[in-house]
Amino acid sequence: MQPQFRPLTPADLDAMVMLEQSAHAHPWSPALLADAFGERYFTGALWHQNALLGYFIADRVLDESTLMNICVAPAHQGRGLGRQLLENYFAQCRTLGLGWLWLEVRASNRAALSLYASAGFEESGRRRNYYPTADGHEDAVLMQKRL
Ligand SMILES: CC(C)(COP(=O)(O)OP(=O)(O)OC[C@H]1O[C@@H](n2cnc3c(N)ncnc32)[C@H](O)[C@@H]1OP(=O)(O)O)[C@@H](O)C(=O)NCCC(=O)NCCS
Repeated sequence: MQPQFRPLTPADLDAMVMLEQSAHAHPWSPALLADAFGERYFTGALWHQNALLGYFIADRVLDESTLMNICVAPAHQGRGLGRQLLENYFAQCRTLGLGWLWLEVRASNRAALSLYASAGFEESGRRRNYYPTADGHEDAVLMQKRL
């Protein structure tokens, strides 16, 4: 299988909603996903034929960007697609002249924390008890990277 990058368009919203709900324990709502096509956002997505395998959503303000969302379909996780999406994010940031990158991630999300750390993100702080969980709250880990 040779996945290809193709940008997301509003016509892909249904596929995004399905992937979002299958990949995330706490998925974005369809309305929030639809906002990803607003002016301040940019995206990247990996496809195999017409199947959406993964995507990211990021915003941009001045020379900074926040990685808002990244996910890979569960059946395709652990095969390097998340790293490819992150590299595509970095490449788009370079093209757009965005040098400061930020993100927030649940403290329990070991796969994402490991991916981000191995790509050069460093912890810059924490928001205590920021995210709701099934039985309470957990910290948000804030990470930054200078591109
Ligand atoms: C986080 C996520 C995008 C990673 O995508 P992926 O395609 O599975 O990741 P890759 O195969 O590219 O792996 C890249 C790195 O991620 C880390 N990683 C991936 N899965 C992991 C796991 N189960 N446990 C620990 N680290 C893991 C490793 O550092 C890995 O590098 P390595 O292969 O050299 O060890 C994917 O797990 C996912 O979609 N999770 C659900 C959504 C989510 O939590 N998104 C992030 C918060 S918004």
